[in-house]
Amino acid sequence: MQLSTKHLLGIRDLQAQDIQLILDTATQFKEVLQRPIKKVPSLRDVTIVNLFYENSTRTRISFELAEKRLSADTINFTASGSSVSKGETLLDTVNNILSMKVDMVVMRHSASGAPHFLAKHIPAIIVNAGDGINEHPTQALLDAFSIREKLGTLEGKKVAIIGDIMHSRVALSNIYLLQKMGAEVTVAGPPTLIPKYIQEALGVRVEYDVKNALQWCDVANILRIQLERQNQVLFSSLREYNLAFGVSKKMLDELDKEIFVMHPGPINRGVEIDSDVADSKQSLILQQVENGVAVRMAVLYLLAGQRETAE
Ligand code: NCD
Repeated sequence: MQLSTKHLLGIRDLQAQDIQLILDTATQFKEVLQRPIKKVPSLRDVTIVNLFYENSTRTRISFELAEKRLSADTINFTASGSSVSKGETLLDTVNNILSMKVDMVVMRHSASGAPHFLAKHIPAIIVNAGDGINEHPTQALLDAFSIREKLGTLEGKKVAIIGDIMHSRVALSNIYLLQKMGAEVTVAGPPTLIPKYIQEALGVRVEYDVKNALQWCDVANILRIQLERQNQVLFSSLREYNLAFGVSKKMLDELDKEIFVMHPGPINRGVEIDSDVADSKQSLILQQVENGVAVRMAVLYLLAGQRETAE
């Protein structure tokens, strides 16, 4: 089995079979990660650069660990401390790195479409690790893996995505993925943080009352307010956001069923999620991080398998 794409730019470009293949391959790699020796030689002949133009903790470490577990050679590039501050363009930076014989580029950038631009202009395989407010495909894949692990399937499951939908690449990638895999999606949060077109354009339900969204869903994926991407005031204060839209343990306890809670991190305790929710038995937050390594191993392994044909 092969992926239908040469790069992983977004979930939008994937078929349901691609997603299935990545999740199934990740299940095998998760098994490798439980062994005393958590390493396989699969990418021994592959060199990967991690090109991070935007801050990251989990995603960068997770990709790096996935690459090491697959025995790839890795180089880490962060924009701060590089020649970007001397005025070098993205394309020049990447072409210089590629002339050192690099096969794959894992890339995070604050500009939506930056990885798509690179994929058009350079011969290496590109993996999008988050581009602006567009997509974060490996996050959606690890979220899906975590749901599948708990609920057995995505088909017919109800997922509420709660918070800053407007500025979240995690939201968009999750919506694409969940719909392709037959899950139902509701987005919830303040009207100012939910794009007006989302219901018609993407076919998701919209809910402005977080309690209703929680009562409806099997899994709640709670998102951070992306203050760094907002240049206007979209809600009154973080304290008031918490009172109106934050998820508390009391809210979970008042539901007539037990739901799972996810968050891509970094979490802002006491804003979108209360501490006793983040640390509760219903929280999958640290399992998501654990699963991220296996999912990224699967993505890198499957894409490297079609290296010869990359354009
Ligand atoms: C997310 C991101 O960077 O888009 N974090 C992550 O990759 N785990 C979400 C966020 O920053 O809130």
